[in-house]
Amino acid sequence: MRIAITGGSGFIGRRLAARLLRKAELEKLVLFDVRSLDDAVAADPRVEQISGDIANRVDVDAAIPEGTTDVFHLGAVVSAGAEADFDLGMRVNLDGTRNVLEACRRLSKPPRVVFGSSEAVYGGELPPAIDDATPLYPQTSYGAQKACGELLVSDYSRKGFLDGRALRFPTIVVRPEPNLAASTFASTILREPLLGHPALCPVREDSVMPLMSVRRLLGCIELAWEAPAQALGTHRSLLLPALSVSVREMIAAVGRIGGEEAAKRIAMRPDPAIQRIVDTWPRAVKAERAERMGLHADSSIDSILESFVEDELPKMRTAEV
Ligand SMILES: NC(=O)c1ccc[n+]([C@@H]2O[C@H](COP(=O)([O-])OP(=O)(O)OC[C@H]3O[C@@H](n4cnc5c(N)ncnc54)[C@H](O)[C@@H]3O)[C@@H](O)[C@H]2O)c1
Repeated sequence: MRIAITGGSGFIGRRLAARLLRKAELEKLVLFDVRSLDDAVAADPRVEQISGDIANRVDVDAAIPEGTTDVFHLGAVVSAGAEADFDLGMRVNLDGTRNVLEACRRLSKPPRVVFGSSEAVYGGELPPAIDDATPLYPQTSYGAQKACGELLVSDYSRKGFLDGRALRFPTIVVRPEPNLAASTFASTILREPLLGHPALCPVREDSVMPLMSVRRLLGCIELAWEAPAQALGTHRSLLLPALSVSVREMIAAVGRIGGEEAAKRIAMRPDPAIQRIVDTWPRAVKAERAERMGLHADSSIDSILESFVEDELPKMRTAEV
């Protein structure tokens, strides 16, 4: 098994790499990114880090050499980043995806490809819960670029160039540091109080978001990756399940897991621009197709926070001292 991860130094890419390194069949793991890692994952002798720009075809070809069996395509400019810089978003999210698919196409054996898409492909008039039949009307450039990537993954699969799966992720928590995504506050209000820091919440307490823990996401990615192509049927896009959680419930969970003093570290600081964006997002997800394949949402916001406390918090506390 020779695997490449684009965006391999990112939040999800790095954690996926650590999980894949537990597999005995893994011979080689290429981590492709503009930035590099310097940690236990990087030190594994099976890991090769390749620094490059996904919008540059030569760089991408070097990251996906002959013999690559599997590719996880996670490299991207996230939502607000792609919205702020249209050209950058098109280059990285659309041209970059095309480069990855073309690099896969030239391999003598079609690789299995998992593409990290997003619920941002949905927009406009949404039903109370999005489901497998909800049409894609993205309202951001990022969402449009992800929707294009999904169509290409299905078409390259139909042509037999690769065996693809495009997974629509909900908001994944808890990120270890803020990013440019409008959803970043969800991680901030869950993370900072547990680290003993204050946090500002820009949206109303009744705002609801579909969430998934990164631990659960990695399980879903692995199941979808290992599923036979027939399980996906006529198209290769898969809406992932998610747990709908209100901001009020997030704050209450911080209180239960970190103590009342932790919850009190969250201050409400309304930001109408963020509230407007959050109000356009799906509030709930009904992912029956994924559920039939054995992919399930987290059971509770408490279990999401507990996985963060077990998997991430000790390393973050050590890094702070
Ligand atoms: N985290 C979420 O909540 C979420 C939700 C929906 C979809 N996604 C998708 O999942 C994937 C991974 O998300 P993440 O949270 O790990 O994001 P991230 O920003 O932490 O990681 C993305 C990585 O891509 C790299 N990258 C950016 N531009 C590049 C370029 N030109 N060439 C090479 N590498 C480049 C970045 O350096 C970064 O390490 C992304 O495609 C994202 O759109 C994430």
